[in-house]
Amino acid sequence: MVNDRSPLEQEVLSRIRPTQEEKDHIREVARCLIDAIEERGITAMVVGSVARNTWVSGDRDLDIFMLYDPSVPREELERQGLSLAREVASAFGAEYREKYAEHPYINAFIGDTDVDLVPCYLIGDARALQCAVDRTPFHTRYITEHINAYIDDVLLAKQFAKAGGIYGSDQMTEGFSGYLTELLVLHYGGFIPLLEAASDWRPGTLIDPERHQEKDFHDPLVVIDPVDPERNVSASVSLTRMYEFVELARGYLAAPSWVFFFPPGNAALSRHEFCNELARRGTTLYAVSFDTPPYIEDIVVPQLRKTAGAIRELLVRNEFAVNRTDYDMRPDRCILLFELMVDRVPPVKRHTGPPLWNRANAEKFAAKYLDNRDTRLYCGPFIDNGAYIVEIGRRYTDAGDLLRSREIFDIALGKHVKISMADHYRVDKDDACWEEERAEFITGFLGRASPFIRMMKDERTPGAGPGT
Ligand code: CTP
Ligand code: MG
Repeated sequence: MVNDRSPLEQEVLSRIRPTQEEKDHIREVARCLIDAIEERGITAMVVGSVARNTWVSGDRDLDIFMLYDPSVPREELERQGLSLAREVASAFGAEYREKYAEHPYINAFIGDTDVDLVPCYLIGDARALQCAVDRTPFHTRYITEHINAYIDDVLLAKQFAKAGGIYGSDQMTEGFSGYLTELLVLHYGGFIPLLEAASDWRPGTLIDPERHQEKDFHDPLVVIDPVDPERNVSASVSLTRMYEFVELARGYLAAPSWVFFFPPGNAALSRHEFCNELARRGTTLYAVSFDTPPYIEDIVVPQLRKTAGAIRELLVRNEFAVNRTDYDMRPDRCILLFELMVDRVPPVKRHTGPPLWNRANAEKFAAKYLDNRDTRLYCGPFIDNGAYIVEIGRRYTDAGDLLRSREIFDIALGKHVKISMADHYRVDKDDACWEEERAEFITGFLGRASPFIRMMKDERTPGAGPGT
């Protein structure tokens, strides 16, 4: 396999393979932690990419699992596990915080290493799992047993996905996890075979390495977990991320280049350039911002997505045409962006009533507008296509007024987002949407392009190459 690796890929590999020094260092950190846990009577193991030798040089991420007997009740596991993890982190003088995935764990910085200390159950069969993390030791075993010939391929695939901004199963990325990348490389038999297969992926593509053939999934890409037929490892991958990968794969096969692994990255706009670009587009930009709810990203981000979608619908219902929306989360503040094609509408709006063949309703409708002298009726009711129409006054002629109104609390906002917004939120328009700390996000919003297209644009700028 290594023999037919292109010089480009060999050069990339020499950059992304962890050095012996790096390997020794992370193994030493892992060994000390495991000793410290086991001294306290609990079996521990390294999982994730460090255990599988599939981490990319420069990553300082270590996953350590603390294995409890399944007879320990769940609350006890959490209580004892977290307390043990805190004790160990403190023994190393580490800064740490408690985190919740589906399951609480401790995240600690030990020297320069970002360590997750995760309590889980030691079970004999992945299908007997009690919490999601119980699968992880099985993943490690499965991958370790199969991956040997493909480690370089996994490194290339991970770096390729990272460079495209589509690596990570978190809610913000909605992309490819490390384990998924490993399974895909294994299934297709290498990095290039994966790209060749991906070039022809269709929505609903099913990969079932262990031929479990048990459950139907309806995600864009389905990769049945070899150790658990009930789980789609690719559930995190959105249709957009899937096709961003497909586009990158096609692009790389057609013309392999360094930028697919190390994109130089576009420079962020300055405030002045942002204002000019907005003026050139001629649209109206609104930003709705509020304090970040005190929960982890994977809880808050889906609520941002839901809130942005609900506000978009509110705007559209009020005839403010929306071109695009996006959201960004920082530790302190969250922001929702709305680009409007139309931000002012006339005072009059068209309102459709019942068809006249529905006699009872039609008569009620006509009576309402005949009797009620103080509705803001401009004209009508008249009949169009067999149904009554009135033209009446509307409540909001300016999108900003609508966004600042109480109506925003009558739509389906995310739970914690709603609490934060009820406390306080602000609405900014056009140039005022600019925030220096969000320059990159706002630049990406205005200049939106898929990862492949962005790379092709970058490649045309001077200075892209192994030397940069
Ligand atoms: N895991 C999982 N599903 C996820 C995230 C993680 O099953 N969405 C499990 C996998 O078994 C994974 C382990 O948790 O290997 C550790 O997660 P993580 O550190 O995110 O991934 P790695 O495989 O270690 O990859 P990386 O090189 O990016 O750290
Ligand atoms: Mg990891």
